[in-house]
Amino acid sequence: MAEKSKILVVGGTGYIGKFIVEASVKAGHPTFALVRENTVSDPVKGKLVEDFRNLGVTLLHGDLHDHESLVKAIKQVDVVISTVGNMQLADQTKLITAIKEAGNVKRFFPSEFGNDADRVNAVEPAKSSFSIKAQIRRAVEAEGIPHTYVASNCFAGYFLPTLCQPGVSVPPRDKLTILGDGNAKGT
Ligand SMILES: NC(=O)c1ccc[n+]([C@@H]2O[C@H](COP(=O)([O-])OP(=O)(O)OC[C@H]3O[C@@H](n4cnc5c(N)ncnc54)[C@H](OP(=O)(O)O)[C@@H]3O)[C@@H](O)[C@H]2O)c1
Repeated sequence: MAEKSKILVVGGTGYIGKFIVEASVKAGHPTFALVRENTVSDPVKGKLVEDFRNLGVTLLHGDLHDHESLVKAIKQVDVVISTVGNMQLADQTKLITAIKEAGNVKRFFPSEFGNDADRVNAVEPAKSSFSIKAQIRRAVEAEGIPHTYVASNCFAGYFLPTLCQPGVSVPPRDKLTILGDGNAKGT
């Protein structure tokens, strides 16, 4: 049987990352999670990190802004999956630089997991995120890094509970902001 690829998830303690870390380890892949040191002592995320450890995930301390930590982590794996959040999308250039330097990565999945960044026609604030995702795609391609872009469209479970209102945790009762001109049809 073919050996399972070793997988590093950067952003594994995030909303989507935690599902990917769990799915990877449960599929039998030696799975590594790059975790920021402060996150381990966070009451909620620390518990998640402990769950990862109990599942058999190898935890590596690191940060997008710590080049050495990225190269060291990347050298241990075959595949890098980035699930960093919207605020860190542009900083994935640091990941690309580290992947180039490490020189061993067989496949890179940049943080996507939404609409296809090259074919979407979004309004702000999503427009800017998609534009950065498209720029990251071009940077990956320019460096000749083997890659896969996962376009999984919108997650109803993420957007519906708050009626698509950014920055809130419960549905607003008084006022709702409708993006665009309000005439776009949703399917
Ligand atoms: N299709 C959809 O409906 C949908 C919905 C949501 C998200 N998405 C997409 O999914 C992707 C992930 O988003 P998300 O909401 O899951 O992200 P998120 O919850 O904000 O998680 C961000 C992750 O990045 C890590 N991180 C932040 N700064 C870092 C740094 N300097 N170095 C290393 N790691 C760092 C965080 O670590 P800490 O735990 O240490 O903070 C966390 O693990 C994005 O591309 C987003 O656009 C799609």
